Amino acid sequence: MEPIIQKLSPENWKAFQEIRLKALRSDPLAFSSSYEEEIDRTEEFVKRKIESSWTYVAVLNNQFIGMVRVVFESGKQLKHMVSIVSLFVDPECRKKGIGLALVKKAIADIHDSSPVIKANLVVNVAQKPAIALFKKLGFTEVGISHKAVNINGVYYDHLLMEAIFKDKLR
Ligand SMILES: CC(C)(COP(=O)(O)OP(=O)(O)OC[C@H]1O[C@@H](n2cnc3c(N)ncnc32)[C@H](O)[C@@H]1OP(=O)(O)O)[C@@H](O)C(=O)NCCC(=O)NCCS
Repeated sequence: MEPIIQKLSPENWKAFQEIRLKALRSDPLAFSSSYEEEIDRTEEFVKRKIESSWTYVAVLNNQFIGMVRVVFESGKQLKHMVSIVSLFVDPECRKKGIGLALVKKAIADIHDSSPVIKANLVVNVAQKPAIALFKKLGFTEVGISHKAVNINGVYYDHLLMEAIFKDKLR
């Protein structure tokens, strides 16, 4: 059975929080915040997170098995850019095209959103599958942020990647 990719609304905050905590436990290097920081997030906090972004989940048998978020800029001079964050697929469901389907759906919607001509992201250099996935979708490497994150006392570099929708440039 194929999972369905759907845009999440705040009423589903609890299931979203569950997959987020699962992601933080399973792949701590992939995220800039930790399980310990997020375990006690309130309903209000999680709902605000969902409302302030486009949050996509992959759903199979009523279970969330993957997620990705699109975060918008608020400043007038930055409205042409978004950030792709929090990509995760449940380890039991990997290598079946779900990560690709999530990011493709997010990109298709971003592409249709009128002011946006560019998607940015940062990814821990240790997350090789994610880097390969983003490259496959046309993201290019634009630099390294050294010692960008400190996870359990170890510094990691972040790879900066971007995709520009050239067909939307005048
Ligand atoms: C990155 C991640 C979301 C990929 O999810 P997935 O559903 O397994 O990925 P897909 O099956 O859609 O694979 C798409 C492409 O990604 C790349 N990829 C996926 N898994 C890979 C692996 N283990 N090794 C190398 N490349 C891999 C490949 O290019 C693949 O295309 P291919 O199947 O034609 O080779 C998943 O591994 C994950 O959740 N990782 C931990 C979290 C993370 O790193 N998030 C990034 C935050 S910025």
